[in-house]
Amino acid sequence: MKVVITGGAGFIGRKLAQRILARGTLTGASGQAEAVTDLVLFDAVAPPDEELTDQRVRAVTGDITDAGLVAEVIDIHTDSVFHLAAVVSAGAEAEFDLGYQVNLDGTHNVLEAARAADGTPRVVFASSLAVYGGAVPDTVVDETPITPETSYGAQKVIGEFLITDYSRKGYIDGRAMRLPTIVVRPGKPNKAASGFASGIIREPLNGVDMVCPVTPESRMAIMSPRTVVECFMHMHELDSTRLGASRAILLSGFSVSMGDAAAAVQAVETNRTRGRITFEVDPQIQAIVDGWPKTTSSAQAADLGFPSDSNIGEVISAYIEDELG
Ligand SMILES: NC(=O)c1ccc[n+]([C@@H]2O[C@H](COP(=O)([O-])OP(=O)(O)OC[C@H]3O[C@@H](n4cnc5c(N)ncnc54)[C@H](O)[C@@H]3O)[C@@H](O)[C@H]2O)c1
Repeated sequence: MKVVITGGAGFIGRKLAQRILARGTLTGASGQAEAVTDLVLFDAVAPPDEELTDQRVRAVTGDITDAGLVAEVIDIHTDSVFHLAAVVSAGAEAEFDLGYQVNLDGTHNVLEAARAADGTPRVVFASSLAVYGGAVPDTVVDETPITPETSYGAQKVIGEFLITDYSRKGYIDGRAMRLPTIVVRPGKPNKAASGFASGIIREPLNGVDMVCPVTPESRMAIMSPRTVVECFMHMHELDSTRLGASRAILLSGFSVSMGDAAAAVQAVETNRTRGRITFEVDPQIQAIVDGWPKTTSSAQAADLGFPSDSNIGEVISAYIEDELG
């Protein structure tokens, strides 16, 4: 079967690709497990060469706003699409036009291409907690109203609605998940406003000093890369009739304060020389973070069997194992 990952050279897209290759099969048009024979990583940038050594994988580098190219990549033989390409939160806020072109028009291109496919492709869309805004409760639950207050959040809500509507029409078999902040992001930070939550773990463990721009008491909902990849796999495999009228669900993150994250970095067993962590509040970032939920708890995700993480120590140990050898 043919599978396309948009944003396939990004943080989550690359990990998802490795997981799909390791598993080797996904539920295909027959409703049975089918071998993944063609895995396309579509992205504006090329993935590292070492991720293209498997003969089932190929990269297509291009822009998701190019409808013609998207239709070539997601052609009539496509069985499944994981749609992750996006301009992320602070990027979409800083560049209004670019945000709408990539996150709205790009998503529309993906859905139109999937609609033209021979079968009814499964399309899994990466949404975000940015769909919530205003006076969000400390714990966001399934019933929390959708009230985005950023361009990125608005674009993700529209994406969710499109996924639900194209599915209602029978054009695709779509699903969307609202991801908490994924920690630890390896390498360089992207333009997400939440970047410090990974930085507070990543930088010290790489021997770099870290200045955290929010107070140690600041809490946020996070999920590990390993768990989010399992959620993508689980969402793809799920019988979508179990999702109900809306094809979008909330994922359960766990709550961690930046002070606890800093303490856990010190406590983790490793012989690496650790950089120092200091706290210097940036009022702008603090105000953004104060408006975020402290955690998310989805009874629906639990009922549907989605995995979640247990504690920050395990997340840090997994980062060391997966990224630092
Ligand atoms: N990482 C998180 O904490 C988090 C949280 C909530 C939601 N999400 C969502 O999950 C998805 C993946 O996130 P990520 O952390 O891997 O982000 P990322 O920035 O690492 O990956 C996104 C990829 O999209 C690609 N892209 C951007 N513009 C493009 C364009 N015009 N054409 C083609 N490709 C383009 C980028 O090159 C990048 O590789 C995104 O949709 C993001 O909004 C992520």
